[in-house]
Amino acid sequence: MPLVNVEDYRAAARRRLPRFVFDYLDGGAEDEIALRRNRAAFEDPILTPRVLNPVAQRDQSVGWLGKRLPTPIVIAPTGLNGLFWHEGDLKLARAARRLGIPFTLSTASNASIEQVAATGAEFWFQLYVMHRALADELVDRAFAAGASQLVLTVDVPVGGKRERDLRNRFVMPFRLRPDTLLDIACHPRWLWSVGRHGAPAMGNLGGAASKDPNVQAALLSRNMDASFSWDDLARLRDRWPRPLLVKGILHPADIRRAAEIGVDGIVLSNHGGRQLDAAPAPLSQLEEAVSPGLPILLDSGIRRGTDIVKARLAGADAVMIGRAALYGLAVGGEDGVVEVVKLLQSEIDRTQALMGLPNLNVRSAVCVGEHKSLTLSAGISSQYQWVWP
Ligand code: FNR
Repeated sequence: MPLVNVEDYRAAARRRLPRFVFDYLDGGAEDEIALRRNRAAFEDPILTPRVLNPVAQRDQSVGWLGKRLPTPIVIAPTGLNGLFWHEGDLKLARAARRLGIPFTLSTASNASIEQVAATGAEFWFQLYVMHRALADELVDRAFAAGASQLVLTVDVPVGGKRERDLRNRFVMPFRLRPDTLLDIACHPRWLWSVGRHGAPAMGNLGGAASKDPNVQAALLSRNMDASFSWDDLARLRDRWPRPLLVKGILHPADIRRAAEIGVDGIVLSNHGGRQLDAAPAPLSQLEEAVSPGLPILLDSGIRRGTDIVKARLAGADAVMIGRAALYGLAVGGEDGVVEVVKLLQSEIDRTQALMGLPNLNVRSAVCVGEHKSLTLSAGISSQYQWVWP
């Protein structure tokens, strides 16, 4: 059967991956309320179409920090991509290169920063701070390798309680148990294409800093440095001269503070519902998030092109996709990622045509002329209005 939407790719990924791998990819924290809320938030907004506005030519490119993205999509940082496809990080990077969109490499990646740089893709580097000396080394390596943006993830002072992983005993250090072996044996395609290469290594954590006994202790504890503060963010701002984004921020006061420190943008995110289960859906925070005027990427729950149009109309510049790209990766490697992003692009294009939007240069922030205005009944907290481009 043809795979016609992201949910189809999810179902195919579920068939292909051992259960403990699929659950790691797909799951959220605790009762998975945030995970469901992320999806529910996108069901709420109503798009009232305008007709007879010529839409024969459609353009979905958007601006991001002085550059043009061909579509408002960036691949989100995700750890352990080597579990979904052999050399998963490199496949994602190559797919992003083919699509002309940025790929964000996680600190918890299996490929190293330098291996990803060698693909020629535009890549951003996502930083987790486990130990300051290690973080400094990673930032310097990312700079030297040409990462064009640094993304500091701030919503993981501790890991979320992912109960699917606990049930599957998918906790580090990972040990193969009889039930895991059975799980793997029932997925021979994955065993042949991924499992036979052995457990993927952590590609970034073998540099000089990791020889330091304090860094080793921090890595062994597998904890983040929960003492990292706003002052540390200000220091990071000084250290990193290229665009700096803060990811995993949701409260309007925090967004203002990040703006004061001089970050270049934020990723409005609840980590795909994998951290604080009571967190709001990023879409519901968007209206307040736009006021400090920082460029905004939104993630968590994007599964449809229409979701991306909704996020864009409600004030986000573009979105990050996490699981959607990973379902594609798990099903078809590099080609699978390209297929999923193209599918989202075609859904965006169709939504634009049906909405009467030849391009996406329409923002809630633009002032409204009564007779020209178009209303997106957001159902979130108020109505957004914008003028024709
Ligand atoms: C993530 N996410 C994540 N974020 C981050 O900053 N560093 C990381 O290493 C990871 N790792 C990770 C692994 C997996 C399997 C998933 C699904 C997610 C969060 C990710 O960047 C993004 O915020 C969410 O995935 C967005 O939600 P959706 O698109 O998955 O619904």
